Amino acid sequence: MPAVLIIGASRGIGRELVRQYLAEGWQVLASYRQPADGDALEAAGAEAIRLDVGDAAASEALAASLKPASLDLVILNAGIYPQGDEDPAHPDEAAFLEGMRINVLAPMRLAALLKPALKPGGCVAFLSSRMGSKKLLESGNALFYRSSKAALNVVVKGLANAWKNEGLRALALHPGWVRTDMGGSDADIDVATSAAGLRQVIAEPGLARSGRFFAYDGAELPW
Ligand SMILES: NC(=O)c1ccc[n+]([C@@H]2O[C@H](COP(=O)([O-])OP(=O)(O)OC[C@H]3O[C@@H](n4cnc5c(N)ncnc54)[C@H](OP(=O)(O)O)[C@@H]3O)[C@@H](O)[C@H]2O)c1
Repeated sequence: MPAVLIIGASRGIGRELVRQYLAEGWQVLASYRQPADGDALEAAGAEAIRLDVGDAAASEALAASLKPASLDLVILNAGIYPQGDEDPAHPDEAAFLEGMRINVLAPMRLAALLKPALKPGGCVAFLSSRMGSKKLLESGNALFYRSSKAALNVVVKGLANAWKNEGLRALALHPGWVRTDMGGSDADIDVATSAAGLRQVIAEPGLARSGRFFAYDGAELPW
């Protein structure tokens, strides 16, 4: 039975990925922060793991609790949309740093810590955003979120380079504009469409795809 660890699985895209991988017969380990979310994940058939991704010691403890070479896939989905960048002359420094801590530092650390838990040929999929693409940038808004996902993209590419000789893949993924708490009710697609597309992109084999940036519909995105 293939095994996936989904970090940030309490709601939104992460929760739907849990549902779909379980429906496909995978063993699913899923992280949450609020106890009620852990209960719901367990009730659905996942193995729930409590983790705040900003907590370095807890991240290390999670990695230490996993059997080496036991996971086919890790999905680093947890993320935030920091506010406070409306006036770039007076940015909210704490909000900027929190965005970088949760969207960049935390997934970088988790990916490196969780690497020994991956099976040969395993994959780490990072939930990025097309808003982190410099090539696609046409507006001047959301600079905190955009810069955090741009920095995450550099992390993905760097880890992919470092892991290439070991046969491990790192992917940057854009889930679409999705109707979740973060995406809002006006967004283009529902979580089911996004998660189904992401699963298909992740399942596409080949080390040559590592260190690249794909949207949920399979399109490759420029950095
Ligand atoms: N929705 C979109 O249109 C869209 C577009 C592009 C990219 N993305 C990216 O896709 C990912 C998922 O987005 P979403 O729309 O599903 O977001 P969401 O509905 O806001 O859910 C965010 C998830 O991240 C978790 N999380 C946040 N901070 C965390 C922390 N410090 N420790 C552990 N978990 C934490 C949340 O857990 P709690 O419930 O405990 O808060 C929740 O499970 C994010 O990385 C986002 O940037 C989304």
